[in-house]
Amino acid sequence: MAMNRLCFFATTSIGVEDVAAEEVRSLIGSDVKLEVGRVSFKGGVGDIYVLNLKARTLHKVYIQLVKADFKTLDDIYRVARSLDYTWIIDGDQSFAIRSERIGGHCFTSMDVSRVVGQAVIDSYQEATGRRLRVDLEQPDVEIYCLVRNYSLLMGVNTTGESLHKRGYRVYDHPAALKPTIAAAMLKISGWRPGESLLDPMCGGATIPIEAALMARGVMPSKFRSSFAFLKLKICDLQEFKAVRDKLLMEENCSFNPEIYAMDKLQKHLSGGVKNAEEAGVKDAIKFKIGDATKPEEYPNGFFSHIIVNPPYGLRAHPKEGVGRLYEEFLKALKAKNPGSTLTIITAASKRFREAAEKTNITIMERRKIMHGDLPAEIFTCKI
Ligand SMILES: C[S@@+](CC[C@H](N)C(=O)[O-])C[C@H]1O[C@@H](n2cnc3c(N)ncnc32)[C@H](O)[C@@H]1O
Repeated sequence: MAMNRLCFFATTSIGVEDVAAEEVRSLIGSDVKLEVGRVSFKGGVGDIYVLNLKARTLHKVYIQLVKADFKTLDDIYRVARSLDYTWIIDGDQSFAIRSERIGGHCFTSMDVSRVVGQAVIDSYQEATGRRLRVDLEQPDVEIYCLVRNYSLLMGVNTTGESLHKRGYRVYDHPAALKPTIAAAMLKISGWRPGESLLDPMCGGATIPIEAALMARGVMPSKFRSSFAFLKLKICDLQEFKAVRDKLLMEENCSFNPEIYAMDKLQKHLSGGVKNAEEAGVKDAIKFKIGDATKPEEYPNGFFSHIIVNPPYGLRAHPKEGVGRLYEEFLKALKAKNPGSTLTIITAASKRFREAAEKTNITIMERRKIMHGDLPAEIFTCKI
């Protein structure tokens, strides 16, 4: 196995694959192909450390084992059985297969896990004479299988739990945004760390925290203690530590960005402050209680970028109320901050488009995105 040219795929939210691809390109300099909810590229073992530590928009990074077409479950067994696993799993390590299945089949994802698991055991036993252990709870090596219609994709998880679990969220807002989506919004908005930014409905402050980490060049995964690659036999703990130490040196914690966060509820604002403290960027964000529909309650000054994740009206408010909130919010922005760029994510797209029309605000760009299981849209507007 040529370790300097491994094939990888990495998952992200559906709708921001282009943003994730651009990020991978800039981090490791590889050509990147876009697929649904993931990107694929080539790289070396060192790129596993860099991507897991530095990527802001990726969820999990996998070493691709195979991508093949199949017709039956037996074909899946044959494809998986033909692969060599000795370079990635040690004889005394345990493994698990995690499968996902999309499309109509006469078998379940559990069937896929079962036959692929058997194929891994059989292939390994033939090559080494040793029978690998299965551990579904805490495997040393996790192999992912995606069956989409008649295509099979297999990969080794180098990340473990998704990278959107940054490790700084001590206050869990009931409608929190995934940090990876917040980071994608920051990139989509065109905001640069030298420019001013306000999240006027900040909740647990995910957007301002991601902005502050970006502005100071802080690794988003700095607060995570575990990565699946630490157990992979091709990875080297000393090399990983060296990469991590080098990345720590790139932080610029004396940089003071112009980042503001506001919420009308003290409970959420205090939660946001706690999260920012945990992320080590409390001093980089100015927090203020205030109502985003009232221009006089905004912090002083002009903000070149407003980036926000408002209520969608799905839980507490009926949709009608959310339409009014959006309209009043846009009116307040026009009064307080004309000339700024607004980047907003909402699942109540129609309500937002109506509010923009009523307030004469032009939508410059829109894209559909999956916010977890919820179809949402990101809009970019000039105020
Ligand atoms: C979807 S949540 C934001 C979640 C946040 N992005 C996070 O990751 O934790 C929306 C927030 O908007 C706040 N909000 C609702 N109406 C507001 C208003 N008129 N002015 C300011 N904040 C408001 C709510 O209190 C809530 O915290």
